[in-house]
Amino acid sequence: MSARRLAIRQPDEFTLSAAAKKEINMWVKKFPKGRERSALIPALWIAQKDAGGWLPEPALRLLGEMLDMAYIRVYEVATFYTMYNLEPVGTHYVQLCGTTPCWLRGSDDLIAMLKRKIGPQRSISDDGKLSWLEVECLGSCANAPMVQISNADGDHYYEDLTAESLEAVLDDLVAGRTPKPGSQSGRHTSEPAGGALALTTEKLSQARGKLKKLPNAGKKVAITEHAADPKGVRATSSGRKNTPKTLTPPKPVKNPKPSARKPVSKPQVIYTDGPTDGTPDDLKKIKGVGPKFEKDLNSKGIYYFRQIGAWKVADVKMVEDLIDSIPGRIKRDEWVKQAKVLAKAATKASKTKVKA
Ligand code: FES
Repeated sequence: MSARRLAIRQPDEFTLSAAAKKEINMWVKKFPKGRERSALIPALWIAQKDAGGWLPEPALRLLGEMLDMAYIRVYEVATFYTMYNLEPVGTHYVQLCGTTPCWLRGSDDLIAMLKRKIGPQRSISDDGKLSWLEVECLGSCANAPMVQISNADGDHYYEDLTAESLEAVLDDLVAGRTPKPGSQSGRHTSEPAGGALALTTEKLSQARGKLKKLPNAGKKVAITEHAADPKGVRATSSGRKNTPKTLTPPKPVKNPKPSARKPVSKPQVIYTDGPTDGTPDDLKKIKGVGPKFEKDLNSKGIYYFRQIGAWKVADVKMVEDLIDSIPGRIKRDEWVKQAKVLAKAATKASKTKVKA
């Protein structure tokens, strides 16, 4: 357990790229309604990648707003898991495994080289290209000692290392080359260093290293209700046999006749010329709308409770896309219902004012 704190120097603000937002929304949709906050772990990871390998403090606030979570909840998760970097890292970020198998196989030598070449843990080399951290087992113990190197190309394992071979890998990366990941001693995957001891007969070994695709790849397999049953027939608890049913896609529903079609509601939700209908309402009075959402809504031409109170389903969907809100959040927080009540109260208040 270690105390992990945010970096002292932080940027003023943080914005996610469109691709990162899309990926986070994809994760949010994987969780049941009301459980969207469960997407925080992948969302932090995506934000970290988007920020160049670390999590600036404004990114935590942004994710809190996106997932409708208190900042402290986001902070707790980000500071608990060591997979999140709270300080900037080098272009090539080395995580060195120092757990027992890697230690027995010489991780201390690698650490000495990293200290000499880069500096102490968490420091960044003078050219900004390298930084390193000792971590616990990365699950590649059979190829100890090993490191994971993360950069714009992804996260790659370099295994069976010596101080010399790791230094050569780092030199290649700094020079802009991409050294081949995997074993650096030349052995095939994790087979014994002296060569294979099993599957050595010609027949057994002929597929070694050659199996590029699954044997049934490309074959059309009928999808049955009992896909796990090879014959597609399985006895029920009553002893009766179920015959397999091939699942057929539902027939497409024909378009209803034009006369029967519901008129498409044209959302009257955007004021393209600004708040031309009087002083904007304080949208923060709607539970679930904070200062950021109010700013976003205003920037998209939404200023009044009556606008929001008039939204139909299509409008809600459109606004969610416009302001990058979690799908379903506006409905869950009942913005439309709240806005109707607030609009009514505002109208009543203004009439009373006129009478007075
Ligand atoms: S002990 Fe190093 S990868 Fe498992």
